[in-house]
Amino acid sequence: MQSAELEINKIRKDFPILTRKINGKPFVYLDNAATTQKPLSVINKISEYYSFYNSNIHRAVYDIAEEATDAYELTRSKVGKFINARSTDEIIFTRNATEAINLVAYSWGRKNIKNGDIIILSEQEHHSNIVPWQILAKEKNAVIIKINETGNLNLNELEFYLNNNNNNNNVKLISLCHMSNALGNIIPLDQIIDMAHEYGIPILVDGAQSVPHIKTDVTDLDCDFLVFSAHKMLGPTGVGILYTKKNILEEMDPFISGGDMIKEVHKENTLFNDLPYRFEAGTPNIADVIGFSAALDYLNEIGMENIRRHEIDLTKYALKRMSELKQIKLYGDTNIHNRGGIISFNLGDIHPHDLATILNNYGIAIRSGHHCAQVLMEKLDISATSRASFYIYNTKEEINIFINALGEAIKLFQL
Ligand code: ALA
Repeated sequence: MQSAELEINKIRKDFPILTRKINGKPFVYLDNAATTQKPLSVINKISEYYSFYNSNIHRAVYDIAEEATDAYELTRSKVGKFINARSTDEIIFTRNATEAINLVAYSWGRKNIKNGDIIILSEQEHHSNIVPWQILAKEKNAVIIKINETGNLNLNELEFYLNNNNNNNNVKLISLCHMSNALGNIIPLDQIIDMAHEYGIPILVDGAQSVPHIKTDVTDLDCDFLVFSAHKMLGPTGVGILYTKKNILEEMDPFISGGDMIKEVHKENTLFNDLPYRFEAGTPNIADVIGFSAALDYLNEIGMENIRRHEIDLTKYALKRMSELKQIKLYGDTNIHNRGGIISFNLGDIHPHDLATILNNYGIAIRSGHHCAQVLMEKLDISATSRASFYIYNTKEEINIFINALGEAIKLFQL
């Protein structure tokens, strides 16, 4: 589909869950940053695997096992094309983006981070891009520095630490989310990667929130690691993706060991498998990886540029309508082009869980809480926010329903 306007009515028909009624009201799903809904093509793809060629992969020579192996590997090559990797060897399937970061922290980190070394993160990272580095830092006696995030990332501060690095400061890795899951802020990734590489520092990009919404080209970006999750981009849960430049991956030791990641096992020693299998021990999540290929087809058919345009349009509209309600405090970058389809807000001093419960009565699903970003919440001096997040099937009519329900909540709480 080439047109800039998404054919929303047609798209919505592909998602059976959107026909549901919740509390007698049409279902308005605005929690896409947590997980997205699945089109029939993805559901059917998984069901076809279990119905017609369920078998283990990379092992047997009979027909259905070869069909399953081919389908699994076809997804790998589609993922490679989707992010424009140079080789499918650079694509590792994990359980989720969190596991992908843990893999890097364990395999790359334990080899490359030493006593006194510095890992740079930002204040807006998801816990999954903080905790693995904290554990590593504790083990290695390394240091974590968090760059100030007050609406947009403080690049001067980053430059300061990188520049100091030349004076024997030991910055060894930068690990940043491209788009904040809590605020939707998008960082200037091109510029940051150039800065990092100018000082010879590798960079990990947490693309869990950005890859589903913004066209991502790892060759063009030149990032060293990229992680993301299938379930946030129409695919099934239980599939994460780690992209790593091949020359880096070749030097990394296995994360989890056992079957399928070996070439030969002898009494005393083991010869590890080639890339990418060396990092995929045991029977993987075959059905869901295969299902993910239908999600990639679906996104390609719509076009990532069209998806981004649609979300900017929706976000602009929602921000405008929400800012008309004076009881609402909005968070995040004020420039629409520096944010994704995520809106974090608070309504007076109403607890976000209470607001989310009321919205649920109107059939609306939003997330409330700290969004696994407690460092950011502390920085903002709040304990939680309410969060609405959009995807390809959301409409301005749904935003109107959401705004009306916020109006009802304001009345109810007499704000
Ligand atoms: N990381 C997901 C979210 O932001 C679960 O909701």
